[in-house]
Amino acid sequence: MNAPQPLASTLGRDPAGEQVLSAERLSFAYAKAGPTFEDVSIGIGRREIVCLLGGSGCGKSTLLRVLAGLETARAGAVRFLGQPLHQPHPRSALVFQQASLLPWLNVFDNASFGLDFKHQPAIDAAARKARVQEALAAVGLAGREQAWPAELSGGQAQRVALARALAREPELLFADEPFSALDAITRAEMQRLLVEVVHRWHAAVLLVTHDIDEAILVADRILLMAGKPGHIHREWAVDIPHPREDHPAAVTTLRMQVLTALRATAEGAAATLAPAPNDS
Ligand SMILES: Nc1ncnc2c1ncn2[C@@H]1O[C@H](COP(=O)(O)OP(=O)(O)OP(=O)(O)O)[C@@H](O)[C@H]1O
Ligand SMILES: [Mg+2]
Repeated sequence: MNAPQPLASTLGRDPAGEQVLSAERLSFAYAKAGPTFEDVSIGIGRREIVCLLGGSGCGKSTLLRVLAGLETARAGAVRFLGQPLHQPHPRSALVFQQASLLPWLNVFDNASFGLDFKHQPAIDAAARKARVQEALAAVGLAGREQAWPAELSGGQAQRVALARALAREPELLFADEPFSALDAITRAEMQRLLVEVVHRWHAAVLLVTHDIDEAILVADRILLMAGKPGHIHREWAVDIPHPREDHPAAVTTLRMQVLTALRATAEGAAATLAPAPNDS
């Protein structure tokens, strides 16, 4: 197996050279504040899982919001499937740390909810039902359609949020620390599930995390964001086969590379790092 190598560019590794999202020289600032990030260029290939890693406050969530069309860049441009992006694209979906289920809707209706967004292409009732049932089955919730959010564990609620995203049949799933509120075992289950379902749905993912181990377990590519204003500091392609737990030596090598780079950034000290064997 090849050792993971840092890459010089931030272009997506799509075999056909086709990108679902590309952003060039993005800069962003909140009102009355200095720049959050500057000169950020990113490409995400179709079906590629890209993890954006970095210390707290370096601008990961803000960058995700700009790339998702929820915020407007001060400079630069975002293209989704080759078209300029000015608002969230119907073939994109979002998952956040909190599942944000509507308590008055059952699991099925919560999972359907993303199909009602503006600009989502209309689908008939039968297709809608099939899509939502397929998504719920994929996340292990077949048979729980009538349950209420209050009856779900945190992990189950996050499964509904993932099903809601999948039902939109996204080309690109934006996920901002979707598992950070879950216990370690549930988080590991959800990381495996994410990889499995996005492969099955042929979706690309931009996953924001400050957990190195999460990034290494799921990513095809890891981008390390750092600095004030933030920028993409380093990048690694991850060629370790799934499930990555079966390749501990390669995982440990990459972990040390990423950890060393993260520690070398000013924000590194604030990042969440679980202790690992041999990490002294
Ligand atoms: N709505 C807002 N208005 C003004 N400043 C903001 C807003 N949201 C975030 N910021 C600031 O922008 C910077 C980047 O925040 P952001 O949430 O993008 O960081 P992050 O890397 O996602 O951090 P974390 O890992 O803690 O989630 C921070 O200094 C933050 O205080
Ligand atoms: Mg954040």
